[in-house]
Amino acid sequence: MSGLFLTLEGGEGTGKSTQIRRLEARLAGLGWKVVRTREPGGTPLGGRLRALLVETGVDDAPGPRAELLLYAADRAHHVDSVVRPALAAGRLVLCDRYADATVAYQGWGRGLDLGVIAQLNRLATGGLRPHRTVLLDLEPAEGVRRALDRSRRGQEAREVRFEHEERAFHERVRQGYLDVAAREPDRVRVVDAAGSPDEVETRVWAAVEDLFR
Ligand code: TMP
Repeated sequence: MSGLFLTLEGGEGTGKSTQIRRLEARLAGLGWKVVRTREPGGTPLGGRLRALLVETGVDDAPGPRAELLLYAADRAHHVDSVVRPALAAGRLVLCDRYADATVAYQGWGRGLDLGVIAQLNRLATGGLRPHRTVLLDLEPAEGVRRALDRSRRGQEAREVRFEHEERAFHERVRQGYLDVAAREPDRVRVVDAAGSPDEVETRVWAAVEDLFR
């Protein structure tokens, strides 16, 4: 594997999409061939799984265990068909959410067994870990407010994520992500997502810059 694999993580409304586009532009400016992708939904099959997971109007919504397995199925297919081939071709893969999201949301958020999730992540990724993960950390009340604003403005109007979950759910997701970061400080860098997009962009760059020196 000769490419570089970076992931962005964070709770609802932490500004991941904005920051990942900005990072992509900066890295492309440095001459990297960047593959920007996401989970769920980084493949055509994943797009269909994503619709089942986050689009409104799906009756028969999956329960927590089925939800976990759908995210895992999306990941296994995405890793095999997009991420590994791109890395083998020497690309820089920039992925909006990856295995840590399952630990935070299905593990800490939904309360599913963390050992089972670790095993499932190993199966889905084949052991492929990011070289660096940027965790955008924000007070959940502020994140959910931003996410609800975004849906009201009609952006991604067909999607509902977890923004209607109770406050405690988002607190658990945040703690889950911070726990992952505390366990793997070399890989996961926590970035304060409060402030303007420009301010956050500067912090995100500081969290990955050493990889490009
Ligand atoms: P997005 O907000 O990045 O578009 O992601 C869609 C939703 O999917 C988001 O609410 C978090 C959720 N999610 C999980 O619950 N588990 C996972 O493993 C992944 C990748 C996403």
